[in-house]
Amino acid sequence: MSSSQRNSQQEAPEYRVRVSGLKKEYQSGASKVVALEDFDLSVADNEFFCLLGPSGCGKSTMLRIVSGLLSHEAGEVDINASNRQRGGERPLTNMVFQEHGIFPWKSVLNNVAFGLKMRGVPKDERHEIANEYIEKVNLSGFEDSYPHQLSGGMKQRVGIARALANDPEILLMDEPFGALDAQTKEQLQQELLDLWSESQKTAIYVTHDIEEAILLGDRLGVMTARPGSVKEILENPLERPRTQQTRNREQFGALRDRVWNILSDEVQSAQKVSNK
Ligand SMILES: Nc1ncnc2c1ncn2[C@@H]1O[C@H](COP(=O)(O)OP(=O)(O)OP(=O)(O)O)[C@@H](O)[C@H]1O
Ligand SMILES: [Mg+2]
Repeated sequence: MSSSQRNSQQEAPEYRVRVSGLKKEYQSGASKVVALEDFDLSVADNEFFCLLGPSGCGKSTMLRIVSGLLSHEAGEVDINASNRQRGGERPLTNMVFQEHGIFPWKSVLNNVAFGLKMRGVPKDERHEIANEYIEKVNLSGFEDSYPHQLSGGMKQRVGIARALANDPEILLMDEPFGALDAQTKEQLQQELLDLWSESQKTAIYVTHDIEEAILLGDRLGVMTARPGSVKEILENPLERPRTQQTRNREQFGALRDRVWNILSDEVQSAQKVSNK
């Protein structure tokens, strides 16, 4: 398909984000590190896509490029913008980080309202929207608290509320629950499943946790060791709604084993690279 066809106003978007032939090199002192090479990915509208891969294969790099935070040497990132909604122009992307993703000097309310403020949404309206999302992530009563007064799980809830309140075309999440204890992680996974089923927002979710990817994702992409590219994409056959009990399903175990086998080869290659 040509780019003029892709940009046609009449055409219904068949993808929300398409990344093709992406290459990223970092200059590290005198040497170069090729983080991504020939990275291709297409994520459909309303799809929850999970990306797995060995440590250092370029997952965070890929998200940062899609979010526009980082430049790239070759390839294209094409985001299909939809109609604009409430609160003026919707941003293309919003990121939820593993840690330190929220402003320590801002209250919960002002953290959640931050993106809306940046795009000029009037105070009353942005507070109304922020309060709606604070309630959705079960943080009512903590509007005036500051991040240092919150637990790790609560901080991640603020990060998720902030990203959703801003209503981006694509939600990008970089191991948002990676630093949490197992119980808090399960609780937040469930909350995210419930929230996502309401909004069905297109999402790219990076995780190290195969079970988390199966619980959340419509499709799972496994990356190669660095330089990272997409090695294999698997469809997730588990129907929604999903709960923690979904883990007990036979299909869940079968998919986990398949992903584990694909990933373990790449983890070994990544270790060889880092031992060199
Ligand atoms: N600013 C930088 N300068 C130089 N090299 C970098 C920089 N950022 C990342 N890299 C290198 O690029 C590669 C990919 O890094 P990236 O953080 O994207 O990996 P990742 O898949 O997110 O890893 P992890 O799973 O550990 O979070 C790594 O080899 C890393 O050392
Ligand atoms: Mg990373």
